[in-house]
Amino acid sequence: MIQISPSLLASDFSNLREELKSVDTADFIHLDVMDGHFVPNLTIGPCVISSIRPHSDVPFDTHLMIDNPLKYIEAFAKAGSDYITVHVEQPDDINECIRLIKSFGKKAGLAISPDTDVSVLVPYLDDVSMITVMSVYPGFGGQKFIESSYEKIRAISEMIQGKDVLLSVDGGVDYENVRKLEDAGVTMVVAGSTVFREENREESIRKLRGE
Ligand code: DX5
Ligand code: ZN
Repeated sequence: MIQISPSLLASDFSNLREELKSVDTADFIHLDVMDGHFVPNLTIGPCVISSIRPHSDVPFDTHLMIDNPLKYIEAFAKAGSDYITVHVEQPDDINECIRLIKSFGKKAGLAISPDTDVSVLVPYLDDVSMITVMSVYPGFGGQKFIESSYEKIRAISEMIQGKDVLLSVDGGVDYENVRKLEDAGVTMVVAGSTVFREENREESIRKLRGE
């Protein structure tokens, strides 16, 4: 069954502990880290992640939309991330990032932005546990899903056949496109506004799973 990773970016930050608890039936919690350089927005850092970590048993899927992640991976690992994803477009050496993430006993992920060709992923497919296809331009929640993402997803799904890699999609996921995404080979979806705009988050997660 498709795994669901609600993005806390769409939650009420004044009530983070309760918002986190409201999605405790999810498979992952998605944490969007933005630095104002790699993307034109700023969000949270390791101290927020370590503060909320004791209040959930759900694995944390930390999405680093930052330049120079090598400088910060240790802090995000120690804050309690389970998966740490870096972008293929950021300037640091990708193999070094993957190696460093794994050195802290964490799972490594790679994210790919809408204008980047899937071929850049090829050298790393045996070394990562998750690929995240950005189906919006990274930086903000609540954007419209980019339709050309399906083609990319199908291509990556082929590339990872037989490998133990989660194929995740991030941005503009809703109750309709999630089924098409599943058909295209997606095994995990990030959903921010679709989950947090609802009163009943548990039901929203069930609907996304297709239950
Ligand atoms: C965008 C973030 C996404 C975003 C998803 O830069 O990486 O995780 O929060 O939000 P929705 O589901 O509202 O598009
Ligand atoms: Zn994200």
